[in-house]
Amino acid sequence: MTAPSPPPPLLEARNVQKHFGRVVALREANFTLRPNEVHAIVGDNGAGKSTLIKIISGVYHADSGEIAIDGRPVTIANPREAREFGIETVYQDLALADHLDSSGNLFLGREQLRPPPLSWFGFLDKKAMRRRAQEEMRRLKIGIQSVDQPVLSLSGGQRQAVAVARAIAWGRRIVIMDEPTAALGVRESSMVLELIKEVRSQGLAVIMVSHNLPEVFAVADRITVLRLGRTIVTLDKSETSLEDVVGMMTGALAVAA
Ligand SMILES: Nc1ncnc2c1ncn2[C@@H]1O[C@H](COP(=O)(O)OP(=O)(O)O)[C@@H](O)[C@H]1O
Ligand SMILES: [Mg+2]
Repeated sequence: MTAPSPPPPLLEARNVQKHFGRVVALREANFTLRPNEVHAIVGDNGAGKSTLIKIISGVYHADSGEIAIDGRPVTIANPREAREFGIETVYQDLALADHLDSSGNLFLGREQLRPPPLSWFGFLDKKAMRRRAQEEMRRLKIGIQSVDQPVLSLSGGQRQAVAVARAIAWGRRIVIMDEPTAALGVRESSMVLELIKEVRSQGLAVIMVSHNLPEVFAVADRITVLRLGRTIVTLDKSETSLEDVVGMMTGALAVAA
């Protein structure tokens, strides 16, 4: 009798290459995401981290290589298609609409309409959206007093939380975060890290791009190291150390093939 084959990874990137003119952003990127894990992608500035996640979220197209979901090769032509695969991304610049409140941002581009006939005239169901936004914030334990405050008036951590809440509200399978704490203070960063754990506990997988290694070690299950557009290694957090990961990021520590 043969052993049952393990389930395919939730998402896999194989031999992905990407050039921008003469700049090689990704030379040979490999990455696998398991269901329900927090997977950190680390590497020095310019290593190709953002490029890799933008390929996964449909912003860029790989020059060559393959992306598979549930073991099946797929084409992710644009961010809308990524969302159809259940992938939501929180970009480095957050992409919030400052003049809208949290509820408006949560539903940005997916506004809920009033029941017909009002829907025919484009009337928005603001009450329903506010209720859902409140539920979502509560579910994620996000402490925002009022969901009808313009996000411009929120703190950096709260803004990040709104962007994350939006990703989680719609992301059915994978939430990607690019440097989620880069612009935040210590207390707000720890709030975002708690949020990442909360997302995992709700059954989603998280890809977290970061070069803050203490944070990576605080939340990630696995770590993939990119250097100069190449995947150097993927490790279980439990089988490595912060010092070794720094060495692999800089190239000071060779990785056995
Ligand atoms: N849109 C772009 N046009 C030209 N070069 C780019 C573009 N995006 C990224 N690059 C280049 O690709 C390399 C990898 O960038 P990036 O993926 O942003 O790295 P990281 O996120 O790891 O800092 C860098 O040399 C960067 O300058
Ligand atoms: Mg980046």
